Amino acid sequence: MDLFLQKDNLLIRTATPDDAPILCRWWNDGNIMAHAGFPKGIGTTIPAVIDNLAADNNHVLMLEIDAEPVGEMNYRSVGENAVEIGIKICNPAQQGKGYGTDFLKMLIEFLFLQMGYQKIILDTNLKNTRAQHVYENIGFRKGAVHLDSWKDQLGEWQSSVDYHLAREEYLITPG
Ligand SMILES: CC(C)(COP(=O)(O)OP(=O)(O)OC[C@H]1O[C@@H](n2cnc3c(N)ncnc32)[C@H](O)[C@@H]1OP(=O)(O)O)[C@@H](O)C(=O)NCCC(=O)NCCS
Repeated sequence: MDLFLQKDNLLIRTATPDDAPILCRWWNDGNIMAHAGFPKGIGTTIPAVIDNLAADNNHVLMLEIDAEPVGEMNYRSVGENAVEIGIKICNPAQQGKGYGTDFLKMLIEFLFLQMGYQKIILDTNLKNTRAQHVYENIGFRKGAVHLDSWKDQLGEWQSSVDYHLAREEYLITPG
């Protein structure tokens, strides 16, 4: 199902093959991908990105502000009634202006109210205190911390922290 969520000047929509060049550029950019463990970028190609967009249970979404692509989100089902999400505002000039919080709320409401999921999960790097602040502001609860649990592309140990948000908790504390 294609997704098209609009609120004021913000748009979340399903990525198409036409978006592959910009996604490829973002995913190959080490500055953008360092938080995910790829400080040299993931070294992908446009055809590989197009294949990735077509993969089952892999929903890649474009984020637009005033009709300009600024980043991407994704979601995938994990087990029964749960969904995992991710977000990257790839244009640094558009970070820290409240848009990440707004985009997350738009997607969360879609996943709970229209898709019927009961729980949203995600994880982030323990060093990513901005992301943790944003998730906690929205109502996500902090779960397990996995210290030195994986090595990034440079072979450096990284730690992650899990977050979860239950539908009933989100609905009684709307943002
Ligand atoms: C993480 C991200 C989605 C947040 O979106 P954003 O639009 O930049 O954030 P917002 O402007 O909505 O909110 C930022 C909040 O974090 C706070 N903040 C900023 N830097 C911070 C830091 N280093 N530590 C803690 N809080 C911080 C701000 O004060 C603000 O808090 P407030 O709403 O209480 O005033 C976005 O910055 C992003 O995509 N970053 C790059 C990729 C990334 O880190 N993705 C998440 C990986 S799981």
